[in-house]
Amino acid sequence: MTIEFTCDGEQVQVPDEGRTLLEVLRDVVGVRTLKDGCSPQGQCGCCTVLVDGQARVACVTPARRVRDREITTLAGLPDDERNAWADAFTECGASQCGFCTPGIIVRFAGLRAKEPDAPVDKVHRALAAHLCRCTGWQTIVDAWDHYGQPISERDFAQAAQRAELEGGVAQDVGPHVALGEGGFADDESPLESKVAVRDGDGWSVADTLHAAREQAGKIQGRRTTAELDYPISVAAGDWDVRLQTTWIEPAYLETDASWAAPGGVAASALGNGGAFGSKLDSPVAEVAVQLAAEHQAPVRVLFSREDTVRLGPKRPPIAGGVNADGTGMLRVASTPGIAEAIAAVAPDVTVELIDIPGPATSADVRGAGWVEAAVLLAAARGETGTMTSPSGGSATADFSDGTLKISVDAGQVLDEIVLRSYCIGAAHMAYSWVMNEGLVVDSDGIVHDLTVRSFGVARASDMPRVEVEIIESDSDPVNGSDAVFAAVAAAVWMSQDTPPRWPVNP
Ligand code: FES
Ligand code: FES
Repeated sequence: MTIEFTCDGEQVQVPDEGRTLLEVLRDVVGVRTLKDGCSPQGQCGCCTVLVDGQARVACVTPARRVRDREITTLAGLPDDERNAWADAFTECGASQCGFCTPGIIVRFAGLRAKEPDAPVDKVHRALAAHLCRCTGWQTIVDAWDHYGQPISERDFAQAAQRAELEGGVAQDVGPHVALGEGGFADDESPLESKVAVRDGDGWSVADTLHAAREQAGKIQGRRTTAELDYPISVAAGDWDVRLQTTWIEPAYLETDASWAAPGGVAASALGNGGAFGSKLDSPVAEVAVQLAAEHQAPVRVLFSREDTVRLGPKRPPIAGGVNADGTGMLRVASTPGIAEAIAAVAPDVTVELIDIPGPATSADVRGAGWVEAAVLLAAARGETGTMTSPSGGSATADFSDGTLKISVDAGQVLDEIVLRSYCIGAAHMAYSWVMNEGLVVDSDGIVHDLTVRSFGVARASDMPRVEVEIIESDSDPVNGSDAVFAAVAAAVWMSQDTPPRWPVNP
């Protein structure tokens, strides 16, 4: 039995093996522009394609259902349209790592075909089917408006330098990134590769993702109804201000992936950025080398979204209280390097590391520890003031009348579009963290929120307007968005009158 359909104008015939449209397109037809950010959860939008002109998420669409229908992926949009979207996204800084972008462009193309002048609320509604962890949404809405408009002359090498400073790992900048060609590990793997997925504490290896997952058992992917837990507390004391936070999932869109050929070097799980300090210790590359040697064949090693949530490092929960004179106490889930990170901005705050059951935590996650300390100190003083990150970047933020006004000094700007994009992305990440985000972990340390929608990442329609002022400077370029992240977290919390727990609206 076979399934026939049209993919990007070509007639395609594939075996009918019960696979999803996403698997068939990526692993049989070989279209790697559409991405897998959460399959089979159907919640991130990275795998969006047009089926007879209607946007559909391919990871929950059985390939059988598209028999004799017309599929359009990003690669199959007419050249002028595809390039106009790539230019608009690049010009607005609407694509950083680029993992979410192909799906969003495909949905925008479907919307534009029906309603080229769709107003912002319709654009927000279209984006509700997607997740972007990098750009903060506003730049994406700007890209919708910028479609077909002129673009600036840019030095993409300098833009990439700025992106690397902000994201912490090498990152390409240019229209190819928006087109899904940022160089993600799994995109480069040969079609004939075997696939390895987690199976208990080991790996299930098979010829296809479908077969490997069947062998390993069902991927659950669920959201719990349990309440968020605050595993650390601080004794009531005479603090000017107090704060308790919970576990935070980094929620990067490209789940951990790698591949290797026998005797070869494994593809880096760090892809094109987008993980903001996560994935640095991901095991997938090492496993790919081992399994390729064992099976004497190229092997792709893929985490599902559930694996990434269970096994990836989290922002550690804290509890603390500080005073306006800079003294205080912060109790933090035991995390290597976190005490030093806090001491860098709050030398008079006593840090206590607490051993609690739960997922791994990391001080590499954006601003971990020092941002909480800096925000507490700002709130105790009663003003956000200027936040300076350990890397030397500084920022201020004001949140009033529904607008977040940010000013940032990151040394030489290098590329204004990229720096602005990262500042807006950091503002979104901070706003989302203070207001909405949390990961349910029970008292035995078991993670319960396992879908990509479980962590409360703020949607486009949730976000206030962000205005960014970039201060010109001749000094060496440094990361600026981490200082923005701290300044916005403080401004948002203080705008809510510093309630003692984050998220403010779980
Ligand atoms: S991979 Fe299909 S919606 Fe996330
Ligand atoms: S650009 Fe959207 S997730 Fe990275």
